[in-house]
Amino acid sequence: MVRLFVVLTAAGSGTRLGCDMPKALVPVAHRPLLEWALKGLPSCDFVVVSAPPAQRDRFQSEVSGCGVPAAVVPGGSSRQGSVAAAIRALVNMVDPVQEDDLVLVHDAARPFTPPAVFDRVVAALQDGHRAVVPALPVTDTIKVVAARTHPDEPVEVVTATPNRATLRAIQTPQGFYLHELAALHERFAEQSLTESTAFSDDAALYEAANLPVVTVDGDRSAYKITTPADLALAEFQHSPHH
Ligand code: C5P
Repeated sequence: MVRLFVVLTAAGSGTRLGCDMPKALVPVAHRPLLEWALKGLPSCDFVVVSAPPAQRDRFQSEVSGCGVPAAVVPGGSSRQGSVAAAIRALVNMVDPVQEDDLVLVHDAARPFTPPAVFDRVVAALQDGHRAVVPALPVTDTIKVVAARTHPDEPVEVVTATPNRATLRAIQTPQGFYLHELAALHERFAEQSLTESTAFSDDAALYEAANLPVVTVDGDRSAYKITTPADLALAEFQHSPHH
């Protein structure tokens, strides 16, 4: 029986949301995002949640009330650092890690991800792929810009426009083999120390190591709650009277 573990990243601050509490504790329809995210997970062997270090106890009581086998670990200064801390804790907990242990890394900020997305990621892993990410086509034209020479500069200089047909917006859960992801997080640990050098998703560690990554279809309802508008949409969709 293959074991399935989940890392739920929930150590974000919620600054862009404009709330005075960690994003994962912000309520939607009177329930914290963390609870929605935990309830939306597929059945699995164990969940490790990364939490803002100062809020660890609060997160632990939230997690304990959800009936999911889970532990809370203090997150890092970047998403990559938070995942690395959770993976390290997971590896210690499940010792010895088996060759076929699978792990899904999922953002608590995507609490309404449908079960079918989890299923597609796990199915692709079971089909023999080693790194699997859910993807959506992009509707905007995406441009690459050069860094501003001065923070007050009102314009940015465009340097490229990649062909939109080749671009994808990447979501979570992202699926991997636990022993491989753990090794890559150890290898690239130094980059995780600052937001500016950290990888913004886990598949990027595979790409940096020249290992293949594949996509499966994502889903619009797995959107990441980032701005007040995202929160208003979630409230509208999930309030009991809707
Ligand atoms: O900041 P961003 O929107 O990319 O965050 C994506 C996910 O990573 C969120 O679920 C957030 O809680 C998590 N995160 C984290 N540790 C950080 C920063 C973000 O666990 N230091």
